[in-house]
Amino acid sequence: MTLRISNLGKHYGKNGEVPVFENVTLGVEPGEFVAIVGESGVGKSTLLNCMAGLDSWDQGSVTHDGIDIGALDGEACALWRRRRVGFVFQAFHVLPHLDVAQNVSLPLMLLGQHRDEDRVARMLDAVGLPGMGARLPQTLSGGQLQRVAIARALVHRPSLLLADEPTGNLDPTTAAKVMELLIGQTREHGASLVLVTHSESAAARADRLLHLTANGIRA
Ligand SMILES: Nc1ncnc2c1ncn2[C@@H]1O[C@H](COP(=O)(O)OP(=O)(O)O)[C@@H](O)[C@H]1O
Ligand SMILES: [Mg+2]
Repeated sequence: MTLRISNLGKHYGKNGEVPVFENVTLGVEPGEFVAIVGESGVGKSTLLNCMAGLDSWDQGSVTHDGIDIGALDGEACALWRRRRVGFVFQAFHVLPHLDVAQNVSLPLMLLGQHRDEDRVARMLDAVGLPGMGARLPQTLSGGQLQRVAIARALVHRPSLLLADEPTGNLDPTTAAKVMELLIGQTREHGASLVLVTHSESAAARADRLLHLTANGIRA
C-alpha cells in the first residue's frame, strides 16, 4: 500500500471558520512505519480519519495505491476501508456484549466472510491471548483489551494500520509490551503503520517521525 497525502487542508464549522491544519503532504510506502507526533488538538486524530476516508477535507487529496479516496462515494469508501484498513484506538472500542473471538471476527463478518475459527485462534495466540476467545471483555484488563483490538485490526490482513495513541490508557509497563506487539504484528503482516503517539520510545522505533502543526507536517 502506498499512501499519498497532498496539500491536505481541513476546517471545521459550517462556514469553515475553525481551521485545523493546512498544507499537509506526506507519503507512506508499503510496509513502512511512520510515527506522527504533535500537540493536543493539532489535528492528529482528524488526519488519521482523513487517511481512512472517515472524515472529509477542504483542500488537497488522499490516494491509496492510486485510488483517489475523496472521489469514492460513501459505500465504495466503506468497502475499500473494510478491506484495506485496520484501526486501533486509545479507548480500545472492544464491543462489550460480544466475546473476544466475536470481537476479533468483526472485520471478517463485515466483509461477508465466514467466521474463520482457525484464523481467529491464530490471531489470539499471536497477541498473547491463547484460548481466551470465549471471554467477555469485562473480564479483561486494559492491556488485554488492547491486544484484542490489535488482533481485530489485523485479522482481515489490511494493508494499512492506523493507530491513534493506542497505549494512552495503559500503565507504562503494559504500554511498552502492547506497543511492541503492535509494531511486531504489523511488520509480520507486512502492513504499513501510521502511529500517533506521545511515546518517545515508540516514535523512535519508526522508520520516520513526523511532527504535525497547523501549517504542515515535517520531520
Ligand atoms: N467533529 C468536530 N467538530 C468540530 N471541531 C472538531 C471536531 N473534531 C475535532 N475538532 C477540533 O479539531 C481540532 C483537532 O482535533 P483532533 O484531531 O482530535 O486533535 P488531536 O488528535 O491532535 O488532539 C481540535 O481543535 C478539535 O477541537
Ligand atoms: Mg487525538
